[in-house]
Amino acid sequence: MKKRVFSGIQPTGNIHIGNYLGAIRNWVASQDEFDNIFCIVDLHAITVPQDPKMLHTKIRELAGLLLACGIDMEKSVLFVQSHVKEHAELAWILNCYIPMGWMQRMTQFKEKSAKQKEQVSVGLFDYPALMAADILLYDTDVVPVGADQKQHIELTRDVAERMNSMYGDVFKVPEPFIPKVGARIMSLKEPTKKMSKSDEHADASIHLLDEPDAIRKKIARATTDSLREIRFDENRPGVNNLLVIYQLFTNKSQEEIEAHFEGKGYADLKRELSEVVIEGLAPVQQRYAEITRDPAFIENLLKENADKVRPIAERTVSRVKEKIGLG
Ligand code: AMP
Ligand code: TRP
Repeated sequence: MKKRVFSGIQPTGNIHIGNYLGAIRNWVASQDEFDNIFCIVDLHAITVPQDPKMLHTKIRELAGLLLACGIDMEKSVLFVQSHVKEHAELAWILNCYIPMGWMQRMTQFKEKSAKQKEQVSVGLFDYPALMAADILLYDTDVVPVGADQKQHIELTRDVAERMNSMYGDVFKVPEPFIPKVGARIMSLKEPTKKMSKSDEHADASIHLLDEPDAIRKKIARATTDSLREIRFDENRPGVNNLLVIYQLFTNKSQEEIEAHFEGKGYADLKRELSEVVIEGLAPVQQRYAEITRDPAFIENLLKENADKVRPIAERTVSRVKEKIGLG
């Protein structure tokens, strides 16, 4: 029996190379090894305000992009969270077993709520309970994510262990998988902040569907420093980030890359990096254009895939209800 992988991604904003290098690419690479379930988490998306038409469109766009990145329907399931109502049902139950104090420690909530100030929803606070439900519903072994999600997975493990110790085996306790390189791709403009879908700075992120010229412009405008040497060094976040992106798109070692750029300047690094990124994204963009030619294809696929995983989610919810005495 293969181990089960589960991961999720929000259908908001534009998918960027941080999502790709930190998460999606690793999902694609390990598809053969695992039994994979990937989820477009639209219920998470509504924890902050969304335009209904745009949300609907973004869900389909994201599905197309994930397929274009190489998520293979022979090896993986790809579905929309709200198509399986057990996510919301289990999230409610988990809510009742998660102490307020655990939630109050979540750094992502602190960051996101600071940005929104007024109008922060209860849902945003409760976001990790829904994420825990996503993972625990499918008896997940491994959750591949970027570094920003580590704390949420720890909370998932904590609530699973808590309920297991109260009621006997209720849940499988999942492990995070966080890549060694690429787990945190930084903003091109403010390289001490992670690249984020909600960044209001147009040049901060490279999106998967960006045209070659847009990619060249954004990289040309990327923040570097006043030194000269091109070296991997976390104390020089701008140059380091560009080198990490270069490394991930070329699969070369750090030593090879430093040797390659020896004696060259930042303009060379930026020019070469642009071409490497353009070349790396070209096949994804081409496949995306093919896949989205027929909108009914994605619509049907999402429906069928939800039907495939629903029985697993139903079984888990029945088991949990029985254990805790509901119904
Ligand atoms: P999100 O954009 O929050 O829906 O994230 C989708 C996936 O991409 C998650 O696994 C995140 O951890 C990952 N991710 C998001 N931003 C970055 C980033 N800047 N660097 C690396 N991984 C990221
Ligand atoms: N919170 C994750 C993010 O913003 C998305 C997500 C939702 C997720 N449910 C999940 C990731 C379950 C892994 C497993 O990136």
